[in-house]
Amino acid sequence: MSSHPIDRPADLDAVRDSYDRVADTYAHMMQTTGMGDIRVHPWLKASVDAFADTVGDLGPVLDVGCGPGTVTGYLAERGLDVSGVDLSPRMIENARRLYPDCRFEVASATELALGEATLGGVLGWWSLFNLPRDVLPQVLAHFARALKPGGSFLTATHVGDEDLVRTEAYGGVPVRWTTHKWRPEGFVGLIERAGLTPVAELRLPADQFSGPGVVVMARKPD
Ligand SMILES: C[S@@+](CC[C@H](N)C(=O)[O-])C[C@H]1O[C@@H](n2cnc3c(N)ncnc32)[C@H](O)[C@@H]1O
Repeated sequence: MSSHPIDRPADLDAVRDSYDRVADTYAHMMQTTGMGDIRVHPWLKASVDAFADTVGDLGPVLDVGCGPGTVTGYLAERGLDVSGVDLSPRMIENARRLYPDCRFEVASATELALGEATLGGVLGWWSLFNLPRDVLPQVLAHFARALKPGGSFLTATHVGDEDLVRTEAYGGVPVRWTTHKWRPEGFVGLIERAGLTPVAELRLPADQFSGPGVVVMARKPD
């Protein structure tokens, strides 16, 4: 049990069930359309490459909200000691099928038992936007404590002001979750207040798959 317990999101079960329902379609779309696949998005790939270069052999990397494991698998290919966790058991089944050599576990970002200063890197790659606005800062602080000095955090999220209630996603699959969009300044401010130093920020305009987004890389001070 963590000494810093994090509030359990009231909708956590509904979010888990929803991602279980979309998991197969999501993995299939990623493979067939390139949606969310960093290998076909040069700027997303560049961000993940910069993260990998920066972490080097500092320590293990945890991909939180790894989904079907695309980024976990990519980082493992690059030689990092990486594992993935996701709220959705079905996402993890897909990840294990697609990347059988990688380690994956089912867990919520809000319930991770992470040792203090044990990780070289943490990712929250398009996976933290379902966390309620008052829970995200607690999760970020947990990540910050888990990073070693000099460790890196890489995150990407949706940009805007709204709390968008989704009832269908990924080609019409019924879901029930809220996408909490963030203004980049507010999002970066949260990361700073968690104890991390932002080092890079990349704005992404809307494309055929998604609205505008932002990628932020931050570092745990020495
Ligand atoms: C849009 S997908 C992104 C998946 C992956 N990072 C990618 O880029 O392909 C969002 C993922 O976040 C996961 N997720 C949502 N809330 C979570 C939570 N509280 N803890 C862990 N994972 C969560 C979902 O199950 C889903 O797999």
